[in-house]
Amino acid sequence: MRGGREALFAGGACALAAVSLLLLLLGGSGGAGRSPAQLRCQHGLAAPANSADVNAELARLRQSYIVAVRDSLTGVQLQTPGVVPGRSPLEEVPFSAEQRSRGDDWPLYGLTMVGTARLDNLQQLLTDVIHNNIPGSFVECGVWRGGASIFAKAVLSAYGSDREVHLVDSFQGLPPNTTAEDSRMWHEMDYLRVSQEQVAAAFDRFGLLDGGVHFHRGYFRYALPAWRAGGGIGPIAVLRMDGDMYESTNDQLYNLFDAISPGGYVIIDDYGIAACRKAVHEFLERHGLRPRIVQVDSFGAWFRKEKAAPPIDQSWYLSFNASRSTADSPRE
Ligand SMILES: C[S@@+](CC[C@H](N)C(=O)[O-])C[C@H]1O[C@@H](n2cnc3c(N)ncnc32)[C@H](O)[C@@H]1O
Ligand SMILES: *[C@@H]1O[C@H](CO)[C@@H](O)[C@H](O)[C@H]1NC(C)=O
Ligand SMILES: *[C@@H]1O[C@H](CO)[C@@H](O)[C@H](O)[C@H]1NC(C)=O
Repeated sequence: MRGGREALFAGGACALAAVSLLLLLLGGSGGAGRSPAQLRCQHGLAAPANSADVNAELARLRQSYIVAVRDSLTGVQLQTPGVVPGRSPLEEVPFSAEQRSRGDDWPLYGLTMVGTARLDNLQQLLTDVIHNNIPGSFVECGVWRGGASIFAKAVLSAYGSDREVHLVDSFQGLPPNTTAEDSRMWHEMDYLRVSQEQVAAAFDRFGLLDGGVHFHRGYFRYALPAWRAGGGIGPIAVLRMDGDMYESTNDQLYNLFDAISPGGYVIIDDYGIAACRKAVHEFLERHGLRPRIVQVDSFGAWFRKEKAAPPIDQSWYLSFNASRSTADSPRE
């Protein structure tokens, strides 16, 4: 089938007219008050564009935008070198398309380390909640340079969605481990310390920093209860967990799971890390939950919160929390 693009672009050099027409239909300013018919006439477009053509063209442009943002964030576009994850001192590795697609290296220049496959999955889950009217925001716990959250905001924006985007991070790296399930190594990784200002500036460079982007700063075990206590948490449609550690994963699940809309999604970026996986399975078992956990690549996975999931039991978490040292709490 010849796509709507061809009808829209009929008559040769009418790209400008087609874009203006799209902007006009999207409610933008490109048409400057002229009707589609006037625009077509003025720019010599032959056939009137029907709405199926326009929708097809819109879908094509939307996907081109999302892919361009994705490949810019991962460093795929410029084929930037990476570093070996967790290695100190940093060990640079040349760009490898295969590695970057799976998030197997940490881009030296690039705003996310999660790789193309997990970003594509994030897009799928976001469009699923949009199409199925699962209410709520996008929340990422563990944002580093902000790339996965910028991608989520770009996808939402491309679909005309004004769902809120919440970023939770210390904005100074991972905490010192408060349990023997994790090691101190995480806290020592300077590569993972990125300030809130840097993340906000990155959102802004993509034109995506607006009143719908919210920052919650602090170690999860303080920032998440504070956010809940503040009352503004609202329903969550997609929770992206990316805090690597056993304790970070527990802090997210116990503080946020109840806020996830039935039919919403939990992304476990670090399912490949044994301590994170352990926290997830303990949590599910304690609550008798048996969701289908779907692996995205060798590292990340996701599951759907079942419609009938009962409120979670906080007793294990409260005693776990009470047993932790607070000596290193970073209260600004
Ligand atoms: C692997 S990075 C996140 C990668 C990021 N999502 C991306 O798109 O590249 C882990 C992040 O989690 C944060 N983090 C981990 N555990 C935390 C905790 N308990 N409290 C606050 N921040 C935490 C770190 O500061 C770091 O920014
Ligand atoms: C944190 O991890 C280190 C190993 O890196 C371990 O020796 C220490 O006991 C752990 N801290 C706690 C509070 O368990
Ligand atoms: C966990 O403990 C910290 C203080 O150590 C406290 O600020 C936080 O609110 C506690 N979390 C919960 C869910 O009670």
